[in-house]
Amino acid sequence: MLEITEVADDKSLRACLEVIHVAFGTVAAAHGWTRDTVPDYTAFLPWADYQAQARSGGRVFAAVRDGRIVGCATLLASRRTPHRFLLEKLAVLPDARHGGVGRRLVQRVAAEACALEGDTLGIAIVDEEVVLKNWYLALGFVQVRTATYAHLPFAVGYLDLSLAP
Ligand SMILES: CC(C)(COP(=O)(O)OP(=O)(O)OC[C@H]1O[C@@H](n2cnc3c(N)ncnc32)[C@H](O)[C@@H]1OP(=O)(O)O)[C@@H](O)C(=O)NCCC(=O)NCCS
Repeated sequence: MLEITEVADDKSLRACLEVIHVAFGTVAAAHGWTRDTVPDYTAFLPWADYQAQARSGGRVFAAVRDGRIVGCATLLASRRTPHRFLLEKLAVLPDARHGGVGRRLVQRVAAEACALEGDTLGIAIVDEEVVLKNWYLALGFVQVRTATYAHLPFAVGYLDLSLAP
């Protein structure tokens, strides 16, 4: 059975970070990105940054199966826009994919944002990841813009999910 549970202790957060490194590592490997060439990519997220985010309002949800964390996601409140929330670092281990774990995590984070009177849940993705983008579109997200940054070798796609009832 799969359980989605909020975690905040360092042991669980470290397990989530390991899931993030492995999950995003598959994307990095596919594109040939390394810690040296794209240090800001999520696959190389340092523990100190992840821990700091969790300690400053980032809420981490873990997908647990048979006592093992197989996926995770972070919910953040936008600093700039009231009622706007962000879904970050959605990750599922390769051997746990294609069974609805990612969808369950997105739904849980969206429900938590709703409970906090959120009206929008935003995400940022590697824009050229068409399979990923289509998956988010099927979950109800709509693309709002793209942007490029000097420190990233890919365009970032921004998508929003309306949380209005
Ligand atoms: C995106 C991700 C969380 C989906 O997890 P999941 O548990 O497989 O999700 P679900 O089972 O709910 O949905 C599966 C669908 O995800 C979609 N998908 C999204 N990204 C995909 C990827 N990189 N490879 C394969 N399928 C992907 C496919 O449509 C897939 O459909 P299928 O099972 O019919 O092939 C997982 O692929 C992952 O961790 N990817 C690497 C990290 C990443 O890109 N995270 C999102 C950053 S914004």
